[in-house]
Amino acid sequence: MKICATIDGMRAARRSLAGQESGKLLGLIPTMGALHEGHLSLVRAAKARCEAVAATLFVNPLQFGPDEDLAKYPRDFDRDCELLEAEGTDLLFVPTVEEMYPSGAVTYVTVEKLSDKLCGRSRPGHFRGVTTVVSKLFNIIEPDVAFFGQKDAAQVTIIRRMARDLNIPVQIVSCPIVREADGLAMSSRNGYLNADQKNSALVLYRSLMEVQRCYERGERSVSRLIQSGVKVFETEPAVKLDYFEIVNPETLEPVDDWSHGGLVAVAGLVGKARLIDNIQLGYVNARA
Ligand code: PAJ
Repeated sequence: MKICATIDGMRAARRSLAGQESGKLLGLIPTMGALHEGHLSLVRAAKARCEAVAATLFVNPLQFGPDEDLAKYPRDFDRDCELLEAEGTDLLFVPTVEEMYPSGAVTYVTVEKLSDKLCGRSRPGHFRGVTTVVSKLFNIIEPDVAFFGQKDAAQVTIIRRMARDLNIPVQIVSCPIVREADGLAMSSRNGYLNADQKNSALVLYRSLMEVQRCYERGERSVSRLIQSGVKVFETEPAVKLDYFEIVNPETLEPVDDWSHGGLVAVAGLVGKARLIDNIQLGYVNARA
């Protein structure tokens, strides 16, 4: 695995990748590190589909709010390298903050409207930080296909729209959420939780499962479905609800009819850790 810390080095490595003659695909997995099975499932999906695979490790300051966990976000470069190498990653880009945002950088990418939905409402500026860094990574690495987790469902929708609107020639693939055996969605932030909190955090998944059960029994009233999830959520006082919504997966607007299915998305705070989870109802992701 070739590791590059500079943009020039990464561009050169991408150009000289073996097996990248015309028609051969380069897959990209952008990450902030502290890797777990969720991230590695994206590498495996890329390996299955592309001749070469690049990953990035960059804790992007631009997507953290002033009171968020940027300083204490988990970092373990050596372990991350070992895991990526073991999965057969060809190229790894690990830039510094100065490399990505040299002084005087004042250009941002914003996907209007969508960026204010779901996590964007409680984390102003978050999605602007994500789309700015991801568009820079696309420009630097020029992948043919980029892999993202359905865990961050709004993020995938927003990045897909950005690539479409800016004519970036990359295919966006969304991969299923990887969960612990008990249902907890894997997240680098789960490391902030002690055993009790981890147990409490399961309420996110339990509340989503309740909504799914009601939907499968035939309930189609969005407000009654949300109520059923919130009711389960409220049985766990250690977790503070941020939002519980059912939205159109393409527009992130509240569902008013089920023709596009529904993305049921939940976010909550356990101690200081902000956790998210989601399921899709009546919607098959035809692009994945
Ligand atoms: P990060 O949180 O490190 O996640 C990197 C990728 O792994 C994202 O596409 C995310 O959706 C995916 N992922 C995380 N947990 C997952 C799980 N349990 N199952 C499946 N996929 C999972 O998301 C980011 O970083 C950043 O916003 C980034 C896109 C890198 C831009 O900075």
